Amino acid sequence: MESLLSKLDLNSLPKHISIIMDGNGRWAKKHNKPRVFGHRNGVKAVREVTEASAELGIKYLTLYAFSKENWRRPKAEVNTLMKLFVKTVSEELNTLNENNIKLEAIGDLSSLPEETYKALMKGMQSTRNNDRMTLILALNYSSRWEITKMVRLISEKVRAKSVDIEDIDHQLVTSHLETNKYPDPELMIRTSGEHRISNFLLWQLSYAELVFTDTLWPDFRKENLYKCLLEYQRRERRFGMTGEQLVKS
Ligand code: IPE
Ligand code: IPE
Ligand code: MG
Repeated sequence: MESLLSKLDLNSLPKHISIIMDGNGRWAKKHNKPRVFGHRNGVKAVREVTEASAELGIKYLTLYAFSKENWRRPKAEVNTLMKLFVKTVSEELNTLNENNIKLEAIGDLSSLPEETYKALMKGMQSTRNNDRMTLILALNYSSRWEITKMVRLISEKVRAKSVDIEDIDHQLVTSHLETNKYPDPELMIRTSGEHRISNFLLWQLSYAELVFTDTLWPDFRKENLYKCLLEYQRRERRFGMTGEQLVKS
C-alpha cells in the first residue's frame, strides 16, 4: 500500500501538534490483560509519533501523558505509570539526543514523585541544546490548574505594581502560561473515540483543528499520524473571517 505520506502537502504542516494519548486501558482489556499492559504498549506509539513528527519537520509535539485528574485512578496504576515515565525517559535519552530532539515538560512537575521528577529533569538537562524538534510532555498537567496559576502570577505583579491592570491583554496572559515558549498548536488529536478535551490546553487550543480517531493509542503508528494530518489539511481555517476572504488573500 502506498504511504499516505506522499499525499501530504509538506508546505502546510502544523508547527505544533498536540495529542491526547487515550485508550491504553481499553486496548489492554481487548487483549485480556491488566490496564498497565496498555500503558507499556503505548510507549511504542510515542516513539513512532515522535520519529514521524521530527521527520516531517514539525517543531513542537505536545503529548498529554498524565492529567491532574489521573491521580484519582487506583494507586497501583498510578505508581506503575510514574515508574514507566522514569524508565521511558531514561531509556529514550540516547535516541532523543541522536535525533537532536529536546525534551521539555509542562504541568505541576514539582508535585511529581521525586524519582519521576529527577528523571524528567535529567532528560531535560541532557537534551537542552537540541533544536530539531521539542517534545513536550504534559505531566501532572491540567488546564484549569495552569490558568489559575497564571491568574496568581499576574495578580502578584499587579500587587507589586510591576503590571498595571490596563496592561493585561491576551499576550500577557499567554506569557504567564506553562506553554509561554511555544506557539499555539494548530492541531489537536485525540485517540480512542472520545470526543472531549479533558482539561488539556483550553486557552491554547482556541483555534486548533480538532481531529478525533477511533484508533486506540497503543495501535497508533506513523500512518495514523499522516491520516490525521491529511484531515487537518482538508480543513479551512477561517479565524473568524469568511471563506471568500480566505480565497482572496
Ligand atoms: C490514556 O489511556 C493514558 C493515560 C490517561 C495515562 P487510558 O488509561 O485513559 O485508557 P482508557 O481510556 O481507560 O482506555
Ligand atoms: C486524558 O485522558 C488524560 C491523558 C491522556 C493523560 P483520560 O482518559 O484521563 O480522560 P477522561 O477521564 O476519559 O476524560
Ligand atoms: Mg482514557
